[in-house]
Amino acid sequence: MKEEYSIRLVKKELLGETCAVLTFSCPEIALSARPGQFVNLSCEYFLKRPFGIMAVDKEAKTFSIGVRKVGKGTDKIIKSSEGDSFTVLGPLGNGFDFDGVKKLLLVGGGTGIFPIFFATQYAKENGIPCEVVNGYRCKNDAFLYDRFSCACSDFHATTDAGDLGVKGNVMAYLETMSDEELANMTVMVVGPGIMMRKVSEWAKSKGLTCYVSLEQRMACGIGACLVCVCKIKAEQEEKEFVHKRCCKDGPVFNAEEVIW
Ligand SMILES: Cc1cc2nc3c(=O)[nH]c(=O)nc-3n(C[C@H](O)[C@H](O)[C@H](O)COP(=O)(O)OP(=O)(O)OC[C@H]3O[C@@H](n4cnc5c(N)ncnc54)[C@H](O)[C@@H]3O)c2cc1C
Ligand code: FES
Repeated sequence: MKEEYSIRLVKKELLGETCAVLTFSCPEIALSARPGQFVNLSCEYFLKRPFGIMAVDKEAKTFSIGVRKVGKGTDKIIKSSEGDSFTVLGPLGNGFDFDGVKKLLLVGGGTGIFPIFFATQYAKENGIPCEVVNGYRCKNDAFLYDRFSCACSDFHATTDAGDLGVKGNVMAYLETMSDEELANMTVMVVGPGIMMRKVSEWAKSKGLTCYVSLEQRMACGIGACLVCVCKIKAEQEEKEFVHKRCCKDGPVFNAEEVIW
């Protein structure tokens, strides 16, 4: 059973009207979290809400999450104030596997951009060459743009509106990459399902290993309730697929295993 921690919000940074970066003091999570893992955070309603970990500061013993308001839970969380108390379970799930990774191509979209930031931070700290491509709707929606620019010298944005970076979605940039640039790259993607699917098909066509972080509705976050099951290709030939728990067996999976 995962331990539940009582934590305090130490910093809140609003990103426009619908998003915020929240930083909490919690040594246990700050010191042990890996990119791709998530936390389950209290929000005054019955169920905790899952959020990918966006950054950790091991010296300050804090971790941060980025939250976009979609319903009543995220609304309450974004409206909270510095000093407010929460309970949290974490770090939860299996994060990205960096073993043997020579070069990284990180691709983010939507709220997936938040956990991609943690992977960028990890790559920098561990000397893994890293290129980041984030897809935004438009310039006004390009949250964390400056932070990514500082964290990664090879950072690219695409916008549907075409008012920042390459016009189009992330594929518009990825399709310009040469085989030489892509050699030895491992791809890690977090974002809307359709984006992860397109990127993983492209990665497969280029012979690249690709990991995706699946987002399913969750309840317990610790593998007990089976609310979050997803279809994963079966290893045994007699079965087409098996159900796996996104919270416990994922949320990160090798894209080759996922049945979209
Ligand atoms: C592994 C994981 C990582 C995530 N990381 C982020 C992140 O970094 N930033 C961010 O803004 N959002 C993230 N989400 C989505 C976030 O959890 C939902 O937006 C949030 O739970 C919605 O809660 P709500 O009360 O505002 O919405 P409501 O729709 O009112 O929620 C009702 C119920 O449905 C559940 N639910 C609704 N949408 C989702 C969803 N997409 N995923 C899981 N449960 C959901 C809620 O937990 C709640 O129990 C992540 C989800 C998962 C599964
Ligand atoms: S959320 Fe309960 S098993 Fe995954």
